[in-house]
Amino acid sequence: MNAPRNIGSKLPPPMAVLLELTHRCPLQCPYCSNPLQMDQVKSELSTAEWKSVLDQAAKLGVLQVHFSGGEPTVRQDLAELIRHARDVGLYTNLITSGVAASKARFDEMAAAGLDHVQLSIQDSDAETAEKIGNYSGAQAKKLEFAKWVRAAGLPLTVNAVVNRHNIDRVGAMIDLAVSLDAHRVEIANVQYYGWALKNLGALMPRFDQFEASIATVDAARARLKGKIVIDYVVPDYYARVPKACMNGWGRRFMNITPAGKVLPCHAAETIPDLKFDSVREMTLAEIWARSSAFEAFRGTDWMPDPCRSCDKREIDWGGCRCQALALTGSAAEADPACGLSPWHEKLRGMAEAASQAAAPEFQYRRITPAKPSTSESAKTSGTAEPVAG
Ligand code: SF4
Ligand code: FES
Repeated sequence: MNAPRNIGSKLPPPMAVLLELTHRCPLQCPYCSNPLQMDQVKSELSTAEWKSVLDQAAKLGVLQVHFSGGEPTVRQDLAELIRHARDVGLYTNLITSGVAASKARFDEMAAAGLDHVQLSIQDSDAETAEKIGNYSGAQAKKLEFAKWVRAAGLPLTVNAVVNRHNIDRVGAMIDLAVSLDAHRVEIANVQYYGWALKNLGALMPRFDQFEASIATVDAARARLKGKIVIDYVVPDYYARVPKACMNGWGRRFMNITPAGKVLPCHAAETIPDLKFDSVREMTLAEIWARSSAFEAFRGTDWMPDPCRSCDKREIDWGGCRCQALALTGSAAEADPACGLSPWHEKLRGMAEAASQAAAPEFQYRRITPAKPSTSESAKTSGTAEPVAG
């Protein structure tokens, strides 16, 4: 087994595993984190294969499993998988758009032992929300779904992705989460790789919109203290400090695609030349310990300057590899969100220019058949061309 790099003498187990049960989804959000070329239904892992993954995750020491997608509730075996996860001792979280399941099916999931639900909203304003998701009638279904969650006694987190079309309603989105009796609301600015990178001009908020949203969130936190937890993920383009994406590559988290490939993060397939191992060929423990994709950016040995000589390198782990690739052309660069990155100012200028231009139409997320490929790198789904340059 390869020695883990600079993350201690013994590699700790991942804390959480996210299962992308399917890439199918009724919504078509232009910032979707799924790859541009998505897995087809016929390639999805079977119920028995997912159960084996859950067994292996529990044995490895994983604590939490996130059922995600696409839209995980389109899998008819979801309640069965939740029950199995609970039986092997995993904490279960459902990440859903809330538009695809009936009340009866939700009740099955709750009875199977579901622990927590994260429900996405596209906006507090129904018309804009439905334009972003390209799904008419979505808002009413989501509000109904939230009621089922709370009536079942389950804790609810509302996830809202903000962009230039809805960031002015951050306050209203927080109020909506309160009215749904959510325990937490997570407001996250779009991160630009995959579909979001394709839609950068259509999504980028102006700096003044961002500043106003910070003031709104601060005021809401003071007003709603003790009532709801408000998390705000600021846009990297206007930040000076990068996020510790995934809490560091290969340190805490595994992401499994519908067809069983195991990724260090949901967008890792955008990085060319990484080889992703599959649960159809290796055990989860083997992949965690020695998959070359996990080793590629694990720890700090891979870092060039400015990260290599920076005292924050074991705090943010150099930021986001996928964003570094998308914006600079190299996944091994410091995340350009960092003020020390040579790309930072250029990026900020590019963001400001994009946000002030007229917004182009959305390019909606749609499942397109994967092209046949001869090498793993040919299967990568994003662009390796820098956008700031
Ligand atoms: Fe983080 Fe690298 Fe920036 Fe230091 S130089 S703050 S490690 S991204
Ligand atoms: Fe891949 Fe951040 S999304 S490392």
